[in-house]
Amino acid sequence: MQQNVNLSAIVLAAGRGTRMKSRKAKVLHQAGGQALVEHVLDAAEASVPPSRITVVVGHQADQVRALLASRSCNFVTQTEQHGTGHAVAICESIAPKDGFTLLLYGDCPLLSASTIASLVKAQQQGGFAATLITTMLDQPDGYGRIVRAPDDSVAAIVEQKAATEEQKKIREINSGIYCIDSQLLWQFVGKLTPNPASGEIYLTDIVELLRAAGHRVAALVLDDPSEILGINQRIELAEADRILRARKTRQLMLDGVTIFQPETVAIDSAVQVGQDTVIGPFTQILGKTKIGSDCTIGAGSVIRDSVIADNVVVSEYCFVGTSTVETGARIGPFSRLRMENHVEAGAHVGNFVELKKTRFGAGAKAMHLAYLGDSVIGAGVNIGAGTITCNYDGVHKHQTNIGDNVFVGSNSTLVAPLNIEASSYIAAGSVITDLVPTDALALGRSRQTNKPGWVTNKRRKS
Ligand code: UD1
Ligand code: CA
Repeated sequence: MQQNVNLSAIVLAAGRGTRMKSRKAKVLHQAGGQALVEHVLDAAEASVPPSRITVVVGHQADQVRALLASRSCNFVTQTEQHGTGHAVAICESIAPKDGFTLLLYGDCPLLSASTIASLVKAQQQGGFAATLITTMLDQPDGYGRIVRAPDDSVAAIVEQKAATEEQKKIREINSGIYCIDSQLLWQFVGKLTPNPASGEIYLTDIVELLRAAGHRVAALVLDDPSEILGINQRIELAEADRILRARKTRQLMLDGVTIFQPETVAIDSAVQVGQDTVIGPFTQILGKTKIGSDCTIGAGSVIRDSVIADNVVVSEYCFVGTSTVETGARIGPFSRLRMENHVEAGAHVGNFVELKKTRFGAGAKAMHLAYLGDSVIGAGVNIGAGTITCNYDGVHKHQTNIGDNVFVGSNSTLVAPLNIEASSYIAAGSVITDLVPTDALALGRSRQTNKPGWVTNKRRKS
């Protein structure tokens, strides 16, 4: 989408969000895998250059600024929240005065970039002082109501608290998304006065001020109200999350990804998935995860901030966190790639195997019941069931290195720091504490002794 040099934006994100009943500022709450205010900025940045975006912060200002630090937008601090009109007014010293200004609320995360573009177009072509987005709701409770003038332009926005019984029946509501002639905005926003009932300065009152001065305000009525859902409490947060996730799975399906029972699947906005990958029900694919083509992600698996190459199978009920999995590898079912692992091409990690900070070589196998931590495991290694790297001595973590084509027998205890050189064998049930040289067999257990007739003797005595 094209950025418009004549356009600027103000995003209001200073409010506490009392109705959330949270210790955390409302705009920091997440839906669809990112904070509400991030969604609003993503949509705004499609039309407005970041240097022309001002974010009003207040409640937990430091956290909101930190979250948005990588974006080159500007910030204004509203120390006391005296209402949406006050929040805009305090931007006067830094906000651009030319062209049009978009006014956006940080608690409306579903607004799309294309709807912003339509609003800007309507404002540019309509010749009104301002254009605002409205929609019809069957249950308009909580929103400001749109009062229409006889000529069908917008006469006023009446807040729920101030509305008469008759006005409460109006189904057309204010989305809180406006595009306004910047000169008129700065001419009139300072003239807003506190609402007598609440003491807050309402941005919405600017409509009446503009009209009184002979200007006209238009509305862009959206058919689909889901885009302008304002999050005031957690029930709406869950609804926004559901809608964002449905949008994401829909887009992926349109792009050639198979998703079964998509309504049970949670995929964060930034996730990328390649063509012909099949995603099972009840999966979660989170953060900055990137999945290649022709993969299978089995039911119930959770993948976070990881990179999965092409042709990988992550079967049912696996967890993969901050790890890389190369082409053709097979993970699961029931595997845990806890953190910072690198599974090379064609390797197999089976059920109840945990990997932590481990590089697992090409074609290597650990099919059942193992813990491999802080280790570098070569190509073609076979890790028997029950193998454990003892990487922690109670104070420090230590490294285990296993060379190519090593065979580690079942139930081996590998006490780190440890080097097991290429092509060696570890006998089952061994406790290995010292270097194992190339091609050697290491036995680290006591020899079996059989006592013939022992049971017969025991029986005779009793
Ligand atoms: C507002 C509108 C209402 C509209 C609704 C749409 C006003 C007076 N009312 O009501 O017409 O239907 O949004 O969702 O504008 N904020 C600040 N500083 C403040 C107050 C608020 O930055 O002093 C921010 C909040 O963080 C929030 C946004 O402005 O992101 C909206 O504030 P909120 O209190 O949620 O307004 P509503 O009552 O929902
Ligand atoms: Ca709101």
